[in-house]
Amino acid sequence: MTALWRRTPLGLAGLAAGAALALGLTSLPVVPAAAVPTGLGSTPAGGPARVATAEQVARGRAIFEARCAKCHGPEGQGTTEGPRLIGQPNGLSGYRTAKGLFDFVTSDMPADAPGSLRPEEYWDVLAFILDANRLIGPDVTLGPDTAEGIRLEP
Ligand code: HEC
Repeated sequence: MTALWRRTPLGLAGLAAGAALALGLTSLPVVPAAAVPTGLGSTPAGGPARVATAEQVARGRAIFEARCAKCHGPEGQGTTEGPRLIGQPNGLSGYRTAKGLFDFVTSDMPADAPGSLRPEEYWDVLAFILDANRLIGPDVTLGPDTAEGIRLEP
């Protein structure tokens, strides 16, 4: 699959990211979801906070730091070696669902060692990325049974 990130338009999601930036939400959450103050517990669009299963996200964060951050940045913000994955603009919506994203990442990432993670590790790291982007619900464990139903499009 070709890279989608270069032609991602800065649309409504970009505006939402601007709001998130103003709230200081672009850095990775460093506290458990339950400890996030209620004032910050809403999406920029005003919807409820949506934080994925904490254990899976914590595992995914560790995998991200070990295997993805050197190219995608310690906070997923992107580097010269890889595009932004967390915050806006990112190209995640181009994969349509979490399943589409999984299919791409399992075949192409890490770019220097494609397919080198176990399937569970791919699910965990994607749960971390989707959670950081508020794209996955609080009670959802990302996996083969749930990925098709998690939409990444606005
Ligand atoms: C050696 C550098 C490198 C590493 C390590 C790496 N990536 Fe990437 N990644 C890239 C590059 C370069 C692209 C863009 C080119 C492409 O799409 O093939 C990319 C694209 C992506 C995309 C698609 C982004 C978009 O907007 O289309 C995702 C998702 C992604 N990487 C996830 C990961 C994950 C998860 C890991 C860790 C398991 C990882 N990457 C590790 C370099 C890297």
